[in-house]
Amino acid sequence: MRAGLKTTMTALAMLAITTSLSQAEDVEVLHWWTSGGEAAALNVLKDDLGTKTIGWVDMPVAGGGGEAAMTALRARVTAGDAPTAVQMLGFDILDWAGEGALADLSATATAEGWDKVVPTALQAFSTSNGQWIAAPVNVHSTNWVWINKAALDAAGGKAPETWEELVAVLDAMKANGITPLGHGGQAWQDATVFDAVVLGMGADFYKAAFIDLDPAALGGDQMAEAFNRLIKLRSYVDDNFSGRDWNLASAMVINGEAGMQMMGDWAKGEFLKAGKVPGADFVCIRFPGTQGMVTFNSDQFAMFNQTDAAAQEAQVAMAKAIMDPAFQSAFNVVKGSVPARTDVSNEAFDDCGKKGMADLAEANTNGMLFGSMAHGHAAPAAVKNATYDVITAAFNGEYADGAAAAAALAEAVAAAQ
Ligand code: GAL
Repeated sequence: MRAGLKTTMTALAMLAITTSLSQAEDVEVLHWWTSGGEAAALNVLKDDLGTKTIGWVDMPVAGGGGEAAMTALRARVTAGDAPTAVQMLGFDILDWAGEGALADLSATATAEGWDKVVPTALQAFSTSNGQWIAAPVNVHSTNWVWINKAALDAAGGKAPETWEELVAVLDAMKANGITPLGHGGQAWQDATVFDAVVLGMGADFYKAAFIDLDPAALGGDQMAEAFNRLIKLRSYVDDNFSGRDWNLASAMVINGEAGMQMMGDWAKGEFLKAGKVPGADFVCIRFPGTQGMVTFNSDQFAMFNQTDAAAQEAQVAMAKAIMDPAFQSAFNVVKGSVPARTDVSNEAFDDCGKKGMADLAEANTNGMLFGSMAHGHAAPAAVKNATYDVITAAFNGEYADGAAAAAALAEAVAAAQ
C-alpha cells in the first residue's frame, strides 16, 4: 500500500516535471492565419516546430491584415501577459521595439548570418537600433490580380496589361453575367486594392504619396485620378460585398461566380487549398500597369520579452526554425508568398511563385520595391489607419469625386502625423 502510494507520488512528481518542461518549451503564438490557405501554411510551421520538440500554443485572432490581432496583442501586453511569439508587420514591429518589448535575437542572427541573406528592405523592419528583433518568414506583395481562367477565356482570353485593357475585361465579364470583381468590403481590403491602383499611376508617384507622404502627391491630380479609378472598380463589385472576408471573395473567383480578385498573394493559398492549378484554373498577373514594380509586406515573428530561461530558449529555437532555408521553401509554397531569404531555390514553387520570386529580385535591383501602405510597410499605424478611412469612404461613394477624396486624404494624413 505504502509502496503503491510512493509509486503514484513519484509518477505524479515526474508528470509535474515533464509538464513543466514541456510547457517551458512551448511557444504561444499570436497570429491571424485563420483562412483555409493560411491555416495550411501555419500547419507547416507547427509541424516543423513539432519535429524540434517545440510545443505550440495557438492564439489565433481572425481578421485579415491583422488589425484585430494587434488590438488583442495590446490588451495582452497591457495585462502583463505577452505571448511568446507574435506575427507582425512592418512599422508595428518597430513600434513595439521602440517600447522595449521585444527580445534581442542578434546573437542567433549573427551566428546564422541573417544579414547576408535577408533583403535590406526587410531588414529595415527586422532590426532596430542595430539589434535583430524579428525573424521574417516570407515576403508577400499586394499588386497582384487573381483571375478565373475560364472567365478570362470567355472575356477574350488576354490578360490585361493596362488600365484600359483591365476595364475592357471587367466589362466583358459583366456582359457574360458574372460579378467581374470579387471583393470583400473591409477597410484593409479596399486599401489593398488601392495600393495597386496608386502604384499603377507610377512608381515615383507611389513613393512620393505613400512612402514620403508628400502632401502635394497625396492631394494632387494623380491621386484624384487614382480615386476615380477606385470608384470605377467599385462598379464591378456585387451588392453583398460589405464586410465579406477576403477568402470568401477568393472563393467567388475559385468557383467562377466572380471573374477576378485584386489581392496579395496570400489569395493564391486559397486557390491551392481548393486544388486549383495556376495557368490551368487561374491566372496570376501583376495589377495592370505595375509590371516590374512590387509593393511588399513581410510577415515576421517578433519575440516578446520573457524572464523564463526555457521560454527564451524556445523563442530562439523558433526563430532559427523560421529562418531555415528548407522551411522557408516548404512554408511559402503553401502560403502563396516567397522566401524572406535570397538563397532559397525556386524549384519547389509553382509558376506564380517563380514569377513572384523573379519580380521581387528584379524590383529590388531596379529600385522598384516599395513597402505596402495597406499592410503596414509604408507608414506607421496612425497614418495607415487615416488612409484606410478615406479609401473606404471613397470606395463607398462618400466623396463627390476623386479630387474631393484626394483632398481629404492629404488632410487626414497630415493630421495623423
Ligand atoms: C496580410 C498578411 C498575410 C495574410 C493577409 C490576410 O497582412 O501579411 O500573411 O495573412 O494579411 O490575412
